Amino acid sequence: MPPPGEDVVRKRTPADFVFGKVIGEGSFSTVYLAKDVHTNKEFAIKVLEKRHIIREKKTEYVNREKKVLQILGSSCKYFVHLYYTFQDTDRLYFVLTYAKNGELLQQINKDTSFNLECTKYYSAELVLALEYLNLKGIVHRDLKPENVLFDENWHILITDFGSAKILGEDKSSDEENQKRRKYSFVGTAQYVSPEILNDAESTCASDLWALGCIIYQMLTGQMPFRGASEYLIFQKILKLDYDFPQGFHKVAKDLIEKFLVITPSNRLGATDETPYKSIREHEFFKDVNWDDLGPPPKFF
Ligand code: ADE
Repeated sequence: MPPPGEDVVRKRTPADFVFGKVIGEGSFSTVYLAKDVHTNKEFAIKVLEKRHIIREKKTEYVNREKKVLQILGSSCKYFVHLYYTFQDTDRLYFVLTYAKNGELLQQINKDTSFNLECTKYYSAELVLALEYLNLKGIVHRDLKPENVLFDENWHILITDFGSAKILGEDKSSDEENQKRRKYSFVGTAQYVSPEILNDAESTCASDLWALGCIIYQMLTGQMPFRGASEYLIFQKILKLDYDFPQGFHKVAKDLIEKFLVITPSNRLGATDETPYKSIREHEFFKDVNWDDLGPPPKFF
C-alpha cells in the first residue's frame, strides 16, 4: 500500500531520482544512470532539452518515441520499458529500463565476432522481438548493434524508437506522404534498407534487412556494406554489393542472403501469414526451441 496521501500513480519529478553518470548521448538527448531515491532501483533516464527539440523541429519524433514505448508496454521482455515521463521548464524526462551490460556492438567488437551458437541465440531473440513489433504494427527503422542492449542476465533490450514508424497511423494522402518521405532519411547508413534510400514506404521488412546486416556482423565482426562515405555505402546497398569471407558458414550465408534482398516483399518472412514462420523454420534455427530459448550462452 502506498503511504497515506500518496497516489500509486503519483507523477514523478527529477527530485525522485539521484542522477549519476552519462551512459549515452544522442544528437537530441543525453541518457543518465539514475537511482530512485525511494527504492534505490536503477534506471536509465533520457533527458531531452525542449528548446533544442523545438529549434530542430524534432517534436514529432519525440512524441512518436513516447507513443511507441507506451504501445510496447512491458509485455515483451526484449524492449526497454518506459516507466515514467515527466518534465520541468526546460527538459523532458523518459525513465527507462537500465540495461546493465551495455551494447551488442561493444560485445561484437570485444570478441571481434561471435561464434555460431552465440549468433544463433541472439538472432533468435531478435527474431522474437521483431515478431512482436510486427504484431504491434511498428517498424523500428534504426535497428543496429548500438541499439541492442543487454540486461543483467544477458538478454537483449532493444532501445531508441526515435526513428520508429507506427503503421497505418498517418491519415494524410499518398501524395503528401510521398513528399514528406522525400529527403527524410532516417536510420544509420550501414543498416539502412534500399527502400528507405529510394524514398519508398518502409515496412516491417525494413527491419528484416537490418537483421540480415546484424547477423552478418555478429559472425564476421564487420558490416556487410562498408565505404569511405555515406554516399559510397548507399551505392553499395542499392547494388547489393557485398560479399562473404572465405569459408563462411553455408546455412548462415543462405539466411543472410534471404534477408538482404532489394525488393522488401521478397525478404524471408516479409509476407508470412503467421509472422515470422518461415524465419523460424529456416535451417539456421533448426535446433531452436522458440517457446523457450533457454539461458544465453556464456561467452562474455
Ligand atoms: N544507453 C542508452 N540507453 C541506455 C539504457 N537504457 N541502459 C543502459 N545504457 C543506455
